[in-house]
Amino acid sequence: MSTREINIASDITALSRMGADEFVRRAKESIAEHGIFTVALSGGSTPQGAHALLAEYKDLPWNKIHIFFGDDRHVPPDDKDSNYRAAKESLLSKINIRAENIHRIYTELDAQTAAQQYEDELKKFFQLPAGQWPRFDLIMLGMGPDGHTASLFPGTAALNENSRWVVANWVEKLNTWRITFTFPLINHAAEILYLVAGDEKTDVLKDVLENPNRNLYPSQRVQPIDGKMIWVIEHGAAKLLTNLK
Ligand code: 6PG
Repeated sequence: MSTREINIASDITALSRMGADEFVRRAKESIAEHGIFTVALSGGSTPQGAHALLAEYKDLPWNKIHIFFGDDRHVPPDDKDSNYRAAKESLLSKINIRAENIHRIYTELDAQTAAQQYEDELKKFFQLPAGQWPRFDLIMLGMGPDGHTASLFPGTAALNENSRWVVANWVEKLNTWRITFTFPLINHAAEILYLVAGDEKTDVLKDVLENPNRNLYPSQRVQPIDGKMIWVIEHGAAKLLTNLK
C-alpha cells in the first residue's frame, strides 16, 4: 500500500529544514527497524540546504547509514558539476562517516562501465536473490523544469528500462551522458522524498501532481509500489496546486 503526502514550505530555508528533519526521522526509524539506513541522495541545487543542515546532526549514527546517489553527471568526482562533489562539500566531509559507507558512482569511467559498476556494487551490497529489487529506506529526488527526475529526462532511452537497476543515459539536450537509477529501482523504495523549489517548475509540477495522464513527464512515473511518497515543495513552485493530498 502506498501513500502520498504533500507539504508546502514557505521558502527554501523552510524546505531545507523539512527535508533534513524527514531524513533524520526516517534514518532513526530504519535503524530501529533493521539496524541500518540506506539512502540515495539527489543531485542539483535544491537539496544542498538540507545537506548542510544534516551536517549539524553530529549525534546521528552515521556509521549505520549508507549513502548512495540516485544519479550523477558523467564528469570527474571533483568536477564542479558532480553531484558527489556537491554532497561531499555540503555534507559528507562534515560528518563522522566511514568511507565504505559512501557509495559514489565512478563517473570517471566511461558511462556504460560506470553504470554497470554501480549496479554491481548495489547488488553486492544488498545481496538479494536474482530478480528481487532492493528496497532503499529512502530515495531523495528533485524535479527539473521539464519534469525530469534523477537523470531520467523526457525522450531519453532510460525511461523505458525495466530490468536494469542503473543505466547510462544519453541526454541529447545536454549533449552528455548521465548515470541514473531506473524507475523500477526508484519505485521499489520504502520512501521517496521529493524536494522541489523554483517558480520555473510551477506549471509542470501542477501537471505532475494533478494530471491523471501519467505519460506527460518522467516525474509522474515515480510511483512507489509499496511505499511512502513525500513531497516538500517551496511556495513558489506550489502556487498552482489545488489538491494537496
Ligand atoms: C541532477 C539531479 C536532478 C535534479 C533536478 C532538479 O543530477 O541534476 O539529480 O534530477 O534533482 O534537475 O535540480 P535543482 O534542484 O537544481 O532544480
